[in-house]
Parts: sequence; C-alpha cells; structure tokens
Amino acid sequence: MSDFSPPFDTPSMYQYVRTGYNHSPPIAESAGGLGELAPMNTNAHPPQDPTVDPGTLGELPSGRPLQTTFTDGLDYPRIGAVSFRRGTLTPNQEALFTEHWPRLGRILADEVIDVDAWFGRSGHPTIVEIGSGTGTSTAAMAPLEADTNVIAVELYKPGLAKLLGQIVREDITNIRMVRGDGIEVLARMIPEASLDGVRIFFPDPWPKARHHKRRIIQSGPLRLIASRLKPGGVLHVATDHADYAEWIDELVTVEPRLEYRGWPWPECPQLTDRQVITKFEGKGLDKEHTIREYLWQRTTD
Ligand SMILES: C[S@@+](CC[C@H](N)C(=O)[O-])C[C@H]1O[C@@H](n2cnc3c(N)ncnc32)[C@H](O)[C@@H]1O
Repeated sequence: MSDFSPPFDTPSMYQYVRTGYNHSPPIAESAGGLGELAPMNTNAHPPQDPTVDPGTLGELPSGRPLQTTFTDGLDYPRIGAVSFRRGTLTPNQEALFTEHWPRLGRILADEVIDVDAWFGRSGHPTIVEIGSGTGTSTAAMAPLEADTNVIAVELYKPGLAKLLGQIVREDITNIRMVRGDGIEVLARMIPEASLDGVRIFFPDPWPKARHHKRRIIQSGPLRLIASRLKPGGVLHVATDHADYAEWIDELVTVEPRLEYRGWPWPECPQLTDRQVITKFEGKGLDKEHTIREYLWQRTTD
C-alpha cells in the first residue's frame, strides 16, 4: 500500500489560478463549435539545466504556472492552471532524486521532448500517463510493455519519488517522469500525432459543483489529447467516482477525433489491465464504488 494521501477533499493542496468561470451543464451536442487551441502563453520557463542545484531538482518554478487557454466554444474547456504545493521527500528519497532525477525526470517547460533521445532508443510506441500518483500501476504495467516508452506525469513530488525508487530498485528501463500539469505537458512538450496512448487513472473527481471546472476530462483536454495521439492511438480513463462517471458519460462523443470504444474493448492495441489495485482504486472498492473504464481511439482522418 502506498503512503500517499488522496487530494480528493483537500483542494487546498492545489493552487488554482484564473478560475473565473460560469458553471453550466455539459452540452455534448455543441461539438460543432469546436475551434482551435489558443496559442500558448509566453511565460516560458527556461529550458532544463543539467547543472541545476540538486536542492531544486524536480521543483516547479515559483510564480504563475504555465497555462494553455482553450477557446473551443464548448461548455467545459477546463479553465485554470494547477500547481502542487505540498509534499516533502525523506532523506533517502532526496538522495535518490539527486542521483537519478536528472536522467529519468524533468519538469514542465516550454521544451518539446526528444523522446528517442530521452529513452535512448528510436521508433518505439510512447504512452503518456497523466496523474500517475505514486506510480503503483505505472511500474506494474511497464515491464509488460517493455517495447513501449512510458512518460508518467504527476504534480506530486513524493509520488514521483516513490515511482523513481521503484524504477531504480526493479531496474525498470521504459519509464520517464515529468513533474507538472499534464495538460501543459501535452500542450508544450509533446508533438502533435506522436503518442500511441494517453492514460488517466482515477483523476481527481473534484466533487463539489463549484470545482467541476477543474476536472481534467473536459472538451478542451479531450481535444488536446486527440491532437497528441497518432491516428489509431488510444485514450484510457478509469474512475470510481459515480458523479465523475456521469460527467464523462456526457462527454464521450464530444471530441470528433476520438472515437468512443467503450469497455471492454478486447481488440484494444494497448495494455489496459493495470495489474495491481492502486491505493485510489482500492479506496473506491472499499467503499463498494463501481470502477468505470473508458476507451477511445483517435480517428484515422
Ligand atoms: C486520485 S490520484 C490517482 C493516482 C493514480 N493514478 C492512482 O490510481 O493511484 C490523482 C493524481 O493525479 C494528480 N494530478 C491531478 N491533476 C493533475 C494534472 N493536471 N497533471 C498531473 N497530475 C495531476 C494528483 O496529484 C494525484 O496524484
């Protein structure tokens, strides 16, 4: 079991900016109003510096987080940028970070990732997992998809440190990590049509109505994900939160370039079995929550 506490009811763990947004119910039919992603803002973070002070390794820069504005004309574009405020590492984790983060991790920046160079091999499929938490399922799945490059994106540094420890201990070679908002990582660091898969397992449900706008599954992010997937690429989402599942149910056809495949989808070209029950999944099961899984495939147009 992980020692990572869920942020479900503690949104104060996050700093959220630019949240002026009028809540209204999702209207999937309005998909015809899709526009383009707005140009990225220019508050660029500097490129990664390998000579950086070890004490600041994996630290997000202070100040307003990078934020992409979605202007898709739909009701749920996802507004606001998110950054994480809490979490310290144990001395052991600090030592591990100092030794291995420069090779296996990076922070969100306006810098497109050269995936082949980072993984030291070329032409392999690549999957981005957003919100990997402590990486329990990330580390369990990766050895079964050794051919695939897995990029785990997480805001919570101790979660990344836990995954880093497992990678090192178990000599897992196909995982790299990015610390930052997964939406910004996709928008700024991942080229268009370059991914074979995107995974979002048990995203924060933001249960209060006034926080629904912070949910990651919205029309804007779905459009962004579609743009980063290759034709035929797969988006896999799982939630144990009934209200969030209802929300996702209303959005399954909102993005025209994501064809909804439902669940199960036996022909799915990517691994869908998480292999382990993550802490968040386990908490949901303890409460007799139903786990809902969603699969979409990027259209081939
Ligand atoms: C409920 S936990 C689930 C963690 C993990 N997937 C699991 O099943 O155990 C959600 C995770 O997503 C992370 N998270 C939330 N919003 C994020 C974002 N925009 N980008 C990256 N990670 C995010 C949180 O820090 C948290 O670790």
